[in-house]
Amino acid sequence: MTVILEMRSLSAGYGTRNVLDNVNFKVFENDFIGVIGPNGGGKTTLLKVILGVLKPTGGELIMGDGIDKSTIGYLPQISTGDNSFPLSVLDVVLSGLMIHKSPGTRFSADEKRRAGDLLEELGLKEYSRSQLKELSGGQLQRVFLARAIIGNPRLLLLDEPGSFVDTAFEKSFHDKLKELNGKMTILMVSHDIGTISAHVKSFACVNGSLHYHPSSEITNEQLRAYRCPIQLITHGEVPHTVLKNH
Ligand SMILES: Nc1ncnc2c1ncn2[C@@H]1O[C@H](COP(=O)(O)OP(=O)(O)OP(=O)(O)O)[C@@H](O)[C@H]1O
Ligand SMILES: [Mg+2]
Repeated sequence: MTVILEMRSLSAGYGTRNVLDNVNFKVFENDFIGVIGPNGGGKTTLLKVILGVLKPTGGELIMGDGIDKSTIGYLPQISTGDNSFPLSVLDVVLSGLMIHKSPGTRFSADEKRRAGDLLEELGLKEYSRSQLKELSGGQLQRVFLARAIIGNPRLLLLDEPGSFVDTAFEKSFHDKLKELNGKMTILMVSHDIGTISAHVKSFACVNGSLHYHPSSEITNEQLRAYRCPIQLITHGEVPHTVLKNH
């Protein structure tokens, strides 16, 4: 199996404080990893390390062949209210291609068509000329998803992409992720462990360090052992029926 990236005894943090310590983690091609853990556990920090925006304070990060900034797609954790940039939805989606282009080059008709197609697929066709600030949280997340995937990345990092997804969009959202996973490796941060266990192939529990669990079935006991007890997972009720109890 191809290794997309590997962390060896990696630590990372801010200032003098390490948020992640002694992380040993291999990401294999085509995995779909649900990244779970309590608030402040270091999930977003882990993604920042993979993206290269945060340098490890110790250990090693080894990227697989051909994996670099230009082959990683990223959907940042979104909070509403910080989207006042004067950009149209189409501009934001196209900006996902910027890393592949030299400065000053324009987007081709083909690239614009691809952006339009993605927006249509994600149910946002009529918003392509809208300004970002006119969108709801869920619509914004779909725009950022389109931006993350327009360049056909090999590794897709999603930081809580479903936190605003409504029930009407949920099925097509998960269908889309499944289709994408046919083409790319996915790391998806989510607090909704009950829902994602039906879609992911494995879990990474992040709480100061990282425990990889190579199956989508995870028990409360395992979560406790990984220091990711279910009670610490915030988003509402956990549908325990989805989790196998032993
Ligand atoms: N830019 C920063 N400067 C200093 N400390 C930070 C910074 N970003 C995050 N932290 C701290 O690092 C810790 C881990 O934060 P991180 O954002 O990785 O958590 P998280 O697991 O993504 O949490 P959440 O579920 O709330 O998104 C927190 O204690 C946070 O306060
Ligand atoms: Mg986070």
